[in-house]
Amino acid sequence: MKNYTLNNGVKIPVLGFGTWKAQDGEEAYQAVLAALKAGYRHIDTAAIYKNEESVGRAIKDSGIPREELFITTKLWNSKHTYEEAMAAFDSSMERLGLDYLDLYLIHWPNPKPLREDGAWQKRNAEVWRAMEDLYQAGKIRAIGVSNFLPHHLEALLETARIIPAVNQIRLAPGVYQTEAVDFCRAHDILLEAWGPFGQGELFQNPAVQAIADKYGKTIAQIALAWSLQEGFLPLPKSVTPSRIASNLDCFDIELSPADLEILKNISGLEGGAPNPDGVDF
Ligand SMILES: NC(=O)c1ccc[n+]([C@@H]2O[C@H](COP(=O)([O-])OP(=O)(O)OC[C@H]3O[C@@H](n4cnc5c(N)ncnc54)[C@H](OP(=O)(O)O)[C@@H]3O)[C@@H](O)[C@H]2O)c1
Repeated sequence: MKNYTLNNGVKIPVLGFGTWKAQDGEEAYQAVLAALKAGYRHIDTAAIYKNEESVGRAIKDSGIPREELFITTKLWNSKHTYEEAMAAFDSSMERLGLDYLDLYLIHWPNPKPLREDGAWQKRNAEVWRAMEDLYQAGKIRAIGVSNFLPHHLEALLETARIIPAVNQIRLAPGVYQTEAVDFCRAHDILLEAWGPFGQGELFQNPAVQAIADKYGKTIAQIALAWSLQEGFLPLPKSVTPSRIASNLDCFDIELSPADLEILKNISGLEGGAPNPDGVDF
């Protein structure tokens, strides 16, 4: 698999395996094992997914050398002080069974409990300092954020010593966060696309089906090709071995500029991108 190069020079496989809702235990373990067997080398998890232990066990049992893998996890909303972030990182590493991490992300910029007293700017600055310290201590190869809009990034950059390498946001055909995309591109922050299948909604979309039929590919493969051609890093999730394997068959697709535009603008997706200043957690 090809790589992108992050703004600190670290290479990251252009596509990662999503694990949200992959249940801890057999489901997450078998899914990650199947993904590694199929050729994925980049796994995306988070403390809040509560499956880091199973992900870690699959990584170990795969027998793939650690340096060939790229592992991401995320700091949850209840850990937004310096000390809590440091302790949360150690706990994630213990569950994953790893001695270094490739990418650590602040999961959300504005957790609900911090919203009332307007503390999120101060707390993000504090948490970011913890992540910078972990990075400089060599425990993490790159640090980034998730679900950050331009105003969250602008606030962070006021005190940051290190510019985030990544912003992981919801992006898919029909879900295009133009302002966040433009801001990140201008600051050399790689965009990772969570929910690259519209969290499943794309599979019922007739406009995407028509494009898939035209290229002789599946909707999933077309959605991933779109993401890659936009320069995003998609994180497809599946716990179904046949889908895990077939989703990877997306690298030879060359969507025309007209089809890229149609996909960008398709309508009918219910979810859209959540407002990080309004989420209920
Ligand atoms: N940073 C954040 O706040 C955030 C938020 C959400 C997600 N994420 C990350 O992004 C990853 C992907 O997002 P997501 O899991 O929400 O949604 P997604 O990847 O857009 O969609 C996953 C759904 O698509 C189904 N699916 C996968 N391949 C398919 C295929 N070829 N044909 C038909 N159905 C298929 C899966 O079913 P089966 O599993 O049953 O096969 C699952 O129901 C997550 O797993 C997580 O790692 C991050």
